[in-house]
Amino acid sequence: MISLHHLYKTYPVNGQAYTALNDVSLDIAQGEIFGIIGRSGAGKSTLLRTLNLLERPDSGQVLIADQDVTALDAAGLRGLRQQIGMVFQHFNLLSHRTVAGNIRFPLELAGQLSPVEMDARVDELLELVGLSQQQAQYPSQLSGGQKQRVGIARALANHPKLLLCDEATSALDPQTTQSILALLRDINSRLGLTIVLITHEMAVVRAICDRVAVIDHGRIVEHGPVAEVFLHPSHEATRNMVAEDGHAAALDHAGRLYANIGQLLRLTFVDDATYEPVLSEVGRELDLPIRILQGSVGRIKDRPYGQLIVGIDGELPAVRAALEARGVRCEEVAA
Ligand SMILES: Nc1ncnc2c1ncn2[C@@H]1O[C@H](COP(=O)(O)OP(=O)(O)O)[C@@H](O)[C@H]1O
Ligand SMILES: [Mg+2]
Repeated sequence: MISLHHLYKTYPVNGQAYTALNDVSLDIAQGEIFGIIGRSGAGKSTLLRTLNLLERPDSGQVLIADQDVTALDAAGLRGLRQQIGMVFQHFNLLSHRTVAGNIRFPLELAGQLSPVEMDARVDELLELVGLSQQQAQYPSQLSGGQKQRVGIARALANHPKLLLCDEATSALDPQTTQSILALLRDINSRLGLTIVLITHEMAVVRAICDRVAVIDHGRIVEHGPVAEVFLHPSHEATRNMVAEDGHAAALDHAGRLYANIGQLLRLTFVDDATYEPVLSEVGRELDLPIRILQGSVGRIKDRPYGQLIVGIDGELPAVRAALEARGVRCEEVAA
């Protein structure tokens, strides 16, 4: 649905060209939740803003539904922006308008509905984001989570096909973050809306994204299904984020901590393999003890996963073969 081809973007900084996007190419499918993760200054917002041309790339193509949007004229661009909703970190609400008034605003700008139709649409949106009770309140009377619900309702007002979220939960506490993420997921599955979200938080990507791209210094350094990228990071930038995240962090240091306990394997279980008594079966079959040294279990969106560091005294190839036959991915960890 969205296809980015060789995007470059530079900003003039102190009289020099600073490269914010460096040859970015990506494909995002209709109906998926696609995450773009990277550190502060990596180029995330610049990249997101090229999708609705709030930022115009120096070169490269942005194809949305096979149309090169960089070639649109002013009228075409207005049409495009109505098809794309955007949600911001700091909500960007109009303080002198009520909740209902904020949600109504993009409907007024679009000028396609009668006042009665607009009121009906606002009611629908209030219901969708769970704010029917707060419709007459002003932004200053709302919690952060409620403000973001208004931001989401406003972004959805004109039935966009694509929703862009720029750090939509970064100003919220962890619990509120989870409730906003649940809302985004619900909207994605109920409306079939494609969502592209950028974030510096791995927990956000783990919770709702189908696929993720990692951006570092303006380049996409790796991308793929979230479980693949986060459980088997190939680029140093991703490895560093994974390590800081804590979910798999300790695992990479296990070798140093447990160097004297047999040979070390890192085992990754996903989906069905997480439900099977694989370790006890293999231990019994080969008649050797398998020591679990470190590990983490959790979920990536709906996929259960486990990742363990185990110590093995015995024939490593036989152990590997028995585990791999049961769908467990094995990697040797250097001691
Ligand atoms: N309008 C601008 N003028 C000059 N430099 C900018 C401008 N916008 C962003 N940058 C620079 O481009 C880089 C990427 O910025 P941004 O896309 O906002 O990163 P992120 O959203 O990942 O934090 C940063 O180094 C930032 O300072
Ligand atoms: Mg940003």
